[in-house]
Amino acid sequence: MPLALIPWPAAVRELGGPPLRPAPPADPGDRRSLAGLLAAAAHRADDPTIGAEGYRLRVDADGVAIAAGDDAGFFYAEQTLAQLIDADAEGPLLPAVEISDAPRFPYRGVMLDVARHFHGVETVEAVIDRASALKLNALHLHLTDDQGWRLELASHPELAAEGSALSSLGDAGGRYSPADYRRIVDYAAERHMIVVPEVDLPGHTHALGLSHPELVADPVVTDLMREVHDLFPGQGELPRRGAPYVGMAVGFSSLRADAPGLEPFLRDVLGEIAAMTPGPYLHFGGDEALGTPPGEYHAMVSLAARIVTETGKTPIAWHEAGEADLPPGTVGQYWGYVTPTEGHDDSARAFVSRGGRIILSPANAIYLDMKYDDETPVGLTWADGPTSVERSYRWDPADVVAEVPESAILGIEAPMWTETVRDLADIDLLMFPRVCSAAEAGWSPRLGSTPQRSWEAFRERVARMAPLWAEAGIGFHRAAGIAWR
Ligand code: ACM
Repeated sequence: MPLALIPWPAAVRELGGPPLRPAPPADPGDRRSLAGLLAAAAHRADDPTIGAEGYRLRVDADGVAIAAGDDAGFFYAEQTLAQLIDADAEGPLLPAVEISDAPRFPYRGVMLDVARHFHGVETVEAVIDRASALKLNALHLHLTDDQGWRLELASHPELAAEGSALSSLGDAGGRYSPADYRRIVDYAAERHMIVVPEVDLPGHTHALGLSHPELVADPVVTDLMREVHDLFPGQGELPRRGAPYVGMAVGFSSLRADAPGLEPFLRDVLGEIAAMTPGPYLHFGGDEALGTPPGEYHAMVSLAARIVTETGKTPIAWHEAGEADLPPGTVGQYWGYVTPTEGHDDSARAFVSRGGRIILSPANAIYLDMKYDDETPVGLTWADGPTSVERSYRWDPADVVAEVPESAILGIEAPMWTETVRDLADIDLLMFPRVCSAAEAGWSPRLGSTPQRSWEAFRERVARMAPLWAEAGIGFHRAAGIAWR
């Protein structure tokens, strides 16, 4: 039976000798602590020839040896150790094995939308725990949207003060103080994750307009939005200037390119968030600005990208912004389908042609907020219907946007939008097991390149993760297609 490792490592050799039998931990149900003890007691060697985040791990009856070139590599070796711990009647055991591992892509992200439903620091920390254990290394926080502005800024305290009272569906809102944000950044860093903050503009800015009506246009309400409002109960009224919005419509709000004070405002906001963020990226959104005239759209995303660049950060934008004039090196985040439609791949390629890289978030594969099937109690279905675990797994990053070399793919990201997602239980249900598909797409060798990088092998490995998740209190979904036992 193959080892239950996720994401599958670059190279695994089972040695076949007797297993390691560590002394049972005080709490026999806590593999994570046992892995920590084993890693602390391991023979450790710094090896600068091992690339960033990579490691070599050897386990045999005599003990554990780890070599890595950086701290992240040692951390990831420990995550692998936790997955190797098994047990029989005699107690815990680890199979004798040699693993040589390194990520396929440098950027492996998960996104949490804290704007539609606010999620407090403890929930964000829980997401960091879950993601980092799967060797994901970026937490993208979608901090602002029509339904909320979730970060207090010293330069503009009115944004959060007036824009954070509610969440989608009329639920309670919330916001992070600068100290809360620092706590998240620090917690992530301890687990080798960067935080990528996003201020979504020029669309998705209704909540911003609650305190800055002079910067936003009147909401553009379409027949499609009226239909969406009729479809789901609890969405409150249609968007109205100056009133908080708690529904699920998108594309109705916009900044005004000609608004006096827009540029200094963006300099304040993006500059302050950049200064609060140690990671190299700042995301300025750019998606679904359906109510923004194209000329104004291009002017505003160009301005935002330029300001981000001047803060010293690398700008990231959703793929729509690729058509605008952006600084060289701006990163594009593709959220079209696995098989591109409507020229979304052209937009993504535009980032590459000006020397930027792309992050792949194909919506009909790794949008974690899609329902698994019609019975799933939370989530949406707009990305080509529900997304089974199998569909989340059967795609490869190199095959989505044609004519882009693998070197131009920065990595992958699995977004969790939260229109319907209220708490950690909802997050767990939608994230597990599908986040494992994203983790393998970002870390493991190409789909189909080894027997283990196949759906048939994955569905077995996922099933064997269940005890580890149960111990960690993760409320995973016993989704169809997985070989649960
Ligand atoms: C998106 O889903 N609007 C990026």
